Amino acid sequence: MPDDGPSSAEATQASDLEKLLVWRRDVRHFDTRPVPEDEMDRLFAATRLAPSVGNAQPWRFVRLRTPALRTTLADHVDAAARQAGERYTQAEQAALYASLKLHGLREAPEIVAVFSDESPREGHGLGIATMPEALRYSTIMAIHTLWLTAQSRGIGLGWVSILEPDWLADLLDAPAQWHFIALLCIGYAKAPSDIPELDRRGWQARRDWRAHVSER
Ligand SMILES: Cc1cc2nc3c(=O)[nH]c(=O)nc-3n(C[C@H](O)[C@H](O)[C@H](O)COP(=O)(O)O)c2cc1C
Repeated sequence: MPDDGPSSAEATQASDLEKLLVWRRDVRHFDTRPVPEDEMDRLFAATRLAPSVGNAQPWRFVRLRTPALRTTLADHVDAAARQAGERYTQAEQAALYASLKLHGLREAPEIVAVFSDESPREGHGLGIATMPEALRYSTIMAIHTLWLTAQSRGIGLGWVSILEPDWLADLLDAPAQWHFIALLCIGYAKAPSDIPELDRRGWQARRDWRAHVSER
């Protein structure tokens, strides 16, 4: 049989994946419309398909439900973002920073804190003797899997990192062996775009693709 390259089904799948990557955005402007529970189940189920060191599956997702917790978190992140803004001393950059929306915690229908278990029973320690951080990398893979799955279903996700991780772990009474990774806002985007918001707002454009080549 001659090799005719990818079949049309494979080509379609490839272009669907490309479209998904192009349209996956970090979302901060959310509709308050709830995400149906079966969709949330589907998102969390997809994380089972993510790779992980030793198959340890160290990701731990915590859904935050109460309005009081939402307000506490949003206030904390607003304060942390204001404080972080003090590093921008140039007036124009400081003004642009202050105008950016850096989280959707007040509007997103779903808020999820993600931790990585530093001593999971699963995996039996395989692969982490020299690089224990591989557990955290695994959790990040699960988040990306969730992110792409959400996007494929028309659901947006925003990653929030402007906070004090120890404060959040205490607030949620997280077990000591859980390392905080991310706070996620999940819901329907108000205005889907194929261009990152920070690019559209003039903060940071995408760089050209480039790989370094070893000289050795
Ligand atoms: C580890 C990580 C932390 C992030 N933290 C924040 C954050 O606190 N606030 C925010 O507005 N965006 C945050 N983002 C989203 C980035 O700003 C966004 O991914 C980047 O601007 C590129 O845009 P895109 O995801 O739409 O392609 C974070 C993204 C990652 C991967």
